Amino acid sequence: MTKKMDAQLIDGKKTATEIKNEIKVEVAAMIDNDEYPPHLVAIIVGEDPASETYVGSKERSAKAIGMTSSVYRFPEDTTEEELLETIDFLNKDDEVHGFIVQLPLPDHIDVDRVIGSIKPEKDVDGFHPVNVGKMALGQKAFVSATPAGIMELLDRYNIDTEGKHCVVLGRSNIVGSPMSILMSKKTKPGNATVTVCHSRTQNMKDLMLQADILICAIGQAQFVKEDMVKEGAVVIDVGIHRIPAENEKGYKIVGDVNFDAVVKKASFITPVPGGVGPMTIAMLLKNTLTAQKNMKQ
Ligand code: GUN
Repeated sequence: MTKKMDAQLIDGKKTATEIKNEIKVEVAAMIDNDEYPPHLVAIIVGEDPASETYVGSKERSAKAIGMTSSVYRFPEDTTEEELLETIDFLNKDDEVHGFIVQLPLPDHIDVDRVIGSIKPEKDVDGFHPVNVGKMALGQKAFVSATPAGIMELLDRYNIDTEGKHCVVLGRSNIVGSPMSILMSKKTKPGNATVTVCHSRTQNMKDLMLQADILICAIGQAQFVKEDMVKEGAVVIDVGIHRIPAENEKGYKIVGDVNFDAVVKKASFITPVPGGVGPMTIAMLLKNTLTAQKNMKQ
């Protein structure tokens, strides 16, 4: 009897490094040409530790590839009007090519109003309704970093998606919903038949077992078990959770997928950490480079 092979790992860390190196070459050429490098600004309101970590890595990664990057920090009690004034200032500043407002925002601020006030051409997070609408229509747009990163991984690993059944777990505005739209488009990767599962889905396991490509963005640690995955499926894990562990740190990072079990059944799988996560910053930087190029035209 031949031993069944484990799935091939989709290495997001390595792919993100490749993408950042590609951008770095372009940025270096701009600087050689006496052009301004792309400038990314992040706005953070309040003191959410996870947001601080994310924004810190975005700033460091941007600078590491030669971009200019700055962070505008505001206290928790900043008013919506004050935030809107800053966004108006950044919208008009020709030296800023792209900016993001790190989420979540404090409860007293209307997130939709804030995102809607960002100039779509500088919305490198791809959250503005104009960018979401253009993406849904298959037009050129900034696509949010996580779905864009997953599409890039499917592309760079030559994973065939045409005509396949793609099951997306989760319908968030940032991941599940755009992911389902992108996978249904007449593109490569894409051109899949898509099912979206969410908290009210009745026969989720039956649907998951039909998935050729399973994209897991359900927000529950190790939710996806071996008996929910078809033999040979491509499994993409968007989750990032800290769970208690008997090691020095007292915790470990896991995804929405029970990796050790599912790796034996899948044909390809993204690990956590080192899968989808590192791709998000690379795609944000790619969007910032695009914003800068678009502004020059
Ligand atoms: N919070 C969690 N992920 C993101 C992201 O991709 N962009 C922003 N702006 N906030 C986030």
